[in-house]
Amino acid sequence: MDTDPGVDDAQAIAFAIAHPEIELLGLTTVFGNAQIDVTTRNALTVLEEFGRSDIPVAKGAAQPLQISRFPAPDFVHGDDGMGGLYLEPPKQQEINETAAEFIVRVANEQHGELSLIAVGPLTNIAQALVLDPELPNKVTALVVMGGTVDAIGNVSPVAEANFINDPHAADAVCSADWPLSIVGLDVTMKIAFTDSLFKKLQKKAGKVGDFLWRSSRFYVDFYSSLSQKISDERACAMHDASALVYLVQPDYFTNVSGPACVAKSGPAMGQLLLDRTKESYLLPYWEGRPNVSVAMQVDGQAVLDCFVNTLIDFN
Ligand code: BDR
Ligand code: CA
Repeated sequence: MDTDPGVDDAQAIAFAIAHPEIELLGLTTVFGNAQIDVTTRNALTVLEEFGRSDIPVAKGAAQPLQISRFPAPDFVHGDDGMGGLYLEPPKQQEINETAAEFIVRVANEQHGELSLIAVGPLTNIAQALVLDPELPNKVTALVVMGGTVDAIGNVSPVAEANFINDPHAADAVCSADWPLSIVGLDVTMKIAFTDSLFKKLQKKAGKVGDFLWRSSRFYVDFYSSLSQKISDERACAMHDASALVYLVQPDYFTNVSGPACVAKSGPAMGQLLLDRTKESYLLPYWEGRPNVSVAMQVDGQAVLDCFVNTLIDFN
């Protein structure tokens, strides 16, 4: 799992650890919700909090492939990237391998059995693709949390944060022939992770549930301050964890397929451009591109139930 923890990344990591059908082989870290040293420290700390410091963490990209890094969104995730919890430094350290090297090595070791999940900017995945252009044929699935087709963007009118943070990487990922599914704002903004659910987790999901409650306070405050409300109750959107639920329950989602590219500059930078008609267009950007499967509708209640019940059962 490639991640930029991040409050909602921690929720996704919790689900990956708790779900009986997922064996989490490692975390690779990327800049995004905070700088790379912070997201890497958070990955290590979160694994320790969840009692799984045996899971390796490989540090990845500090900046995007070509553009300058945007400022970290400390007003969303706190300046520690973990909702202002200011956790103790981790005891473990990252391994002596880059994120891209780790991804390529593990994909080769797993002989086609690896599912790659990316819930941050796609820089490490694009770098892994350069290291091993055959990588798309070596994974069972690549599930990406990012982008938006019809929903309003969360960092510009048309762009989602993970895609705009490295649009060149996102476009490179969409150009390769992976078994690629995208779980973006079209569905994640419809999944309201309410305070009642966080409270239920705090009561019934032990130490992990308590951590998710505490780490989400600042994040839910941010979501509750937005004009675009996702629920009548205090709530945040379920972004990264939805990609993990997609991995085990794709039937909760309705997808649309087509060639896709990502705008790399200008006011549309970071926009996911999905060709849903496969007509011939005036512009050549979609020509020769493989189909990408993008989640457009979701049974949000089923996703929430799956998440909450998985963590309660794990406890
Ligand atoms: C995505 O951006 C990050 O802030 C979140 O962790 C999530 O991966 C949502 O747009
Ligand atoms: Ca993330």
